[in-house]
Amino acid sequence: MKIGAIIVAAGRGERAGGGIPKQFRRLAGKSVLARSYAALRAHPAIAAIVLVTNPQDTALLEGVDKEVGETTVKIPGGATRSDSVRAGLAAMTQAGVDAVMVHDAARPFVSADLIDRLATALEDHAAIIPVIPVTDALMRLSASGEISEPVDRETLGAAQTPQAFRLDTLIAAHERAAGASYADDAAVIRAAGGAVFAVPGENGNYKLTRPEDFQRAEAEMMSPAITVTGQGFDVHRLEPADRMWLCGVELQEGLGLVGHSDADAGLHAVTDAVLGCAGAGDIGQHFPPSDPQWRGAASDKFLLHALKLLREAGGEIVHADVTLICERPKIGKYRDAMRTRLAEILGLPEARVNIKATTTEKLGFTGRGEGLAAQAIVTARMT
Ligand code: CTP
Ligand code: MG
Repeated sequence: MKIGAIIVAAGRGERAGGGIPKQFRRLAGKSVLARSYAALRAHPAIAAIVLVTNPQDTALLEGVDKEVGETTVKIPGGATRSDSVRAGLAAMTQAGVDAVMVHDAARPFVSADLIDRLATALEDHAAIIPVIPVTDALMRLSASGEISEPVDRETLGAAQTPQAFRLDTLIAAHERAAGASYADDAAVIRAAGGAVFAVPGENGNYKLTRPEDFQRAEAEMMSPAITVTGQGFDVHRLEPADRMWLCGVELQEGLGLVGHSDADAGLHAVTDAVLGCAGAGDIGQHFPPSDPQWRGAASDKFLLHALKLLREAGGEIVHADVTLICERPKIGKYRDAMRTRLAEILGLPEARVNIKATTTEKLGFTGRGEGLAAQAIVTARMT
């Protein structure tokens, strides 16, 4: 299923104050909108992103493009959040997606795991929202400020974004809404009589709404991020063959690597480096060569699993540097494709991924062309 994302960022952020619309305020040097964008952009399930923006913010939006390092797709929003979503949906129809996640720019802390949960739930449901339990006791208030009655919180939850929908379902519901304004898109679906399912939301995925939300975010981000590095090393034997897999790319140079999986020494070294950051042992512990299910397996599977373990350990990969050591094949003409593919698997911009190659001056097993070695260093930020 192809999934797009709409980030609504056309609001004025009046309750937050702060002089500029809240989505452009910086937290630890990076704007709220750039953070929300990067979180969705980095997720492999998201194929296209549309930003719904306010034409008054043109200069600020140029700054966001610089921050994220690409020209974002921007669509003018409307007077209400619902109008802005409708504008985004109209643009999304051009993107050829089956489903869409609608996200508030003002929720920059959305996690990859939450996006995973939504993407998985889209297989079975047409409308899914993240919900967190309400922990405070709830009261209905009368106009005088007096409490009229307590409300049972067990049957209540607080809705977050991203909210995920089959594209046709959300478009049809918004058409029925006929321009009316709703608090979120779950409410639009409910008003059209549709079913909405809940997946667990996250307390950390709060919306920056009032000045104290910014104070909370700043305080949380002040706690110094710990940077860790992991290193990985792998060797496979070279032999004549039709093809070889290296750093996720197929090379047809008359040489192959011998191993139990696809023997992609580059991805194995990166996988071990990621496991190193996560403190999670080595690739052999997670994917024993003795296990028949990994015979011939594509090695991106190993790397994606290691990345998941890193996220579960509270880590976020920020950089990867790979050195391929071999006399042959010559790496040069594949280097760009390897960088692109590795960046894609890692969910990093290409600028944060580097591929190097070297020979060992005909010395040793790599020099004699008996094998190929790969080294990787990965940097991750731990929260
Ligand atoms: N939003 C939008 N178009 C609008 C109104 C809101 O795209 N006409 C977006 C906001 O930019 C925000 C999200 O919807 O990312 C959630 O809305 P909210 O938190 O209410 O933001 P604002 O409307 O900007 O803030 P306020 O209500 O305090 O003015
Ligand atoms: Mg608002």
